[in-house]
Amino acid sequence: MFYLYAYCLFSKIMTRLKMQNKWSTKLGVAIIFWVFSVQFISAHNVKSPTALSITEGSGDHNKREETDIEIENEDPEDLEVFRPTDKWQTLKPGHAVPAGSHVRLNLQTGHREVKMGEEEGLKYRKDGNGQGMVNVQGPSFTAEELKKALKNFKQGMDDPVDTKQEDDAVRAQFRPIEELKKDMEALNMLVETDVQVMMKLLNQFNNTNSTTNEKVKALLDLEYLVHQVDNAQNLVSMGGMQLVINALNSTDIRLQESAAFVLGSAVSSNPSVQVEAVEGGALQKLLILLATQRPMAVKKKALFAVASLLRLFPFAQSHFLKLGGVQMLSELFQTPGAEALRVRIITVLYDMITEKELISQVGMDLIPDSSHQERLRQYAEVALLPVLVEQGWCKLVPELLSSPEHDWREKALRTLLAMMAQCHTQYKQNPSLTVSLSELHEQYQELVLTEQDVGEQDGYFGEILALVDSMVVKMRQV
Ligand SMILES: *[C@@H]1O[C@H](CO)[C@@H](O)[C@H](O)[C@H]1NC(C)=O
Ligand SMILES: *[C@@H]1O[C@H](CO)[C@@H](O)[C@H](O)[C@H]1NC(C)=O
Ligand SMILES: *[C@@H]1O[C@H](CO)[C@@H](O)[C@H](O)[C@H]1NC(C)=O
Repeated sequence: MFYLYAYCLFSKIMTRLKMQNKWSTKLGVAIIFWVFSVQFISAHNVKSPTALSITEGSGDHNKREETDIEIENEDPEDLEVFRPTDKWQTLKPGHAVPAGSHVRLNLQTGHREVKMGEEEGLKYRKDGNGQGMVNVQGPSFTAEELKKALKNFKQGMDDPVDTKQEDDAVRAQFRPIEELKKDMEALNMLVETDVQVMMKLLNQFNNTNSTTNEKVKALLDLEYLVHQVDNAQNLVSMGGMQLVINALNSTDIRLQESAAFVLGSAVSSNPSVQVEAVEGGALQKLLILLATQRPMAVKKKALFAVASLLRLFPFAQSHFLKLGGVQMLSELFQTPGAEALRVRIITVLYDMITEKELISQVGMDLIPDSSHQERLRQYAEVALLPVLVEQGWCKLVPELLSSPEHDWREKALRTLLAMMAQCHTQYKQNPSLTVSLSELHEQYQELVLTEQDVGEQDGYFGEILALVDSMVVKMRQV
């Protein structure tokens, strides 16, 4: 009996815009290269699971899922050699895959899919000094060759005395197992490296002997790594999240700033890490950074972290309201010297308003399931708009219209419209808002003409003009 060991070699080749350190070169966009090599070795009646790591590059973030897929025992004679084309095709259990093909796991169907490879051999970034790409040339086979080799190999193994020659023939065609093992090791190194590196950084950060500079450096390196969803989750499981949260109220402002930065990146689009951070008390500490005298750099990072914590997380939003977060943001908005943060503050509020609106709209054309009901219930507890009115935002948001930045004005207009129902009366009683709107109307009418001159019909200025006019119309309504 022979068993087919399909050694799956893969690597997600990623590039990052930001190359800060030597680990960074192996991270980046989610392009998946799957390269399968097949190797036949003899074994006895034991089921031999083959560890197959599945990597999925999802659109928003780099989520990695690892699955063990057991390749069933098959008589090689029964193995069909798969003929990949340039289209993705579903791979049936027991299909042999010629080297050089791309194999991916369709996470929706759970089936493996194969297509013809465009790249030759295995490409991955090698760790170390992080430079360059290693291209291991794998032999390419036609389906026929593979079938023949299988057959030869089986015959050879049936007759152990006379195996040498066939074996060599097979070895000539198939990559030696040692080579495959080396590739696997290189791969495992890659997979493990992030965890190892994070461990080292956490130790450096947690070591009382480290200087502040070393600690800050460790945090910044961590920040880079936790953009990846699984790294952020590992940060939690390694106990690093709590260390980072504790550093938010460290006595050193540089540590406060870097810790807020790490936290914000770790919780971005990462619901399970958001939960951990809120439960670890991150929100209170961040709000203290926002509410007390700190350098702008610290406040900026703290605001970033707050925004990431609140995004699509109604539990954190209710918590934020209870902790007086809106009031703290109002005060920060009006702090002299904090003008640069104003648009970010408005964005946090605007995102919360529209999130809640969107979720109730989505509910109308969905069959409501229990998780949707739960989300609706959670958002229902976030009574943001009344608090915004109470904290003076009907008057604060219009102030942003005097900014020279188009995108600040745009954000202000969208927020004003989102608060229309609650702020209508106050808007009408605000003469400077009326003046601002009519000035903006004139200005953008002219800008729209310049847009049209260059052939742009639905340009950005046209969009802003539509927002201005919508404000004017809605304010006139009773
Ligand atoms: C800090 O340094 C001292 C003296 O060099 C050493 O004895 C101690 O083990 C170090 N502590 C840590 C946590 O590395
Ligand atoms: C940080 O150091 C303390 C002792 O200095 C230790 O008890 C703790 O486990 C360390 N935390 C992590 C996450 O390494
Ligand atoms: C930070 O806050 C925790 C409790 O929230 C407190 O125990 C700790 O002493 C504070 N650290 C500093 C440096 O103030």
